[in-house]
Amino acid sequence: MNAAVLQKSDSVVTMPGPCPVIITERLVLRPHKLSDAPAIAESLGDFKVSRMLSKVPQPYDRQDALDWIVPQTSGILPDWALAITTGDDTHIGVVAIELRRGEWHLGYWLNRFYWDRGYVTEAAGAALERFFRRMPNTAIRSGAFADNLASLNVQRKLGFRITDADQIFSMSRNRMVPHIETAMLPEDFRRLRRP
Ligand SMILES: CC(C)(COP(=O)(O)OP(=O)(O)OC[C@H]1O[C@@H](n2cnc3c(N)ncnc32)[C@H](O)[C@@H]1OP(=O)(O)O)[C@@H](O)C(=O)NCCC(=O)NCCS
Repeated sequence: MNAAVLQKSDSVVTMPGPCPVIITERLVLRPHKLSDAPAIAESLGDFKVSRMLSKVPQPYDRQDALDWIVPQTSGILPDWALAITTGDDTHIGVVAIELRRGEWHLGYWLNRFYWDRGYVTEAAGAALERFFRRMPNTAIRSGAFADNLASLNVQRKLGFRITDADQIFSMSRNRMVPHIETAMLPEDFRRLRRP
């Protein structure tokens, strides 16, 4: 192997590998299937859910859901887009860790009828645990609209810190909305999980 090849292999970006299946106390997190489209369309067709997300238009239908699922299931993205399911495989939400412009971002949503049971804290915590096992030196960014106290609470419980505030465009609200930026360093996560 010559020096040029060695130099090239040094610069290869480490990736977390394929989207895993993760079993938690109450949930199964798994890769998406095309057959999840109707459940996603039903969940994201609810303005109470979509108003807290930046890139979900209203109305939102099964074709919109398929347009999102197809790249997720193609194997070409490095992202983890985990379906949050209950024991009977019902799709109730998503927790995703996505690579955007070289940085990893955590995002999530849950069908409104499942809110306030600790499901997203449980799902996102398990996804982060697995992600940090594969990518132990990676920072993760997240954030929420400033009026999304439930989501900011989830991130506080997971160990994210507020880093900045700005405004981002919400497709469903069709306007700029104040937004809080957050981040978690690997040492923050390790400190919280292993006191
Ligand atoms: C945000 C969301 C994912 C939370 O999911 P969830 O499973 O209900 O969250 P959890 O139950 O794990 O935790 C929610 C926390 O916020 C608290 N909370 C809920 N509604 C709240 C409100 N209006 N104001 C303040 N706190 C609130 C809950 O009490 C809980 O905190 P606690 O455990 O200290 O009591 C869910 O509401 C959702 O899907 N919303 C729409 C989409 C969205 O906002 N996605 C995130 C975009 S950043």
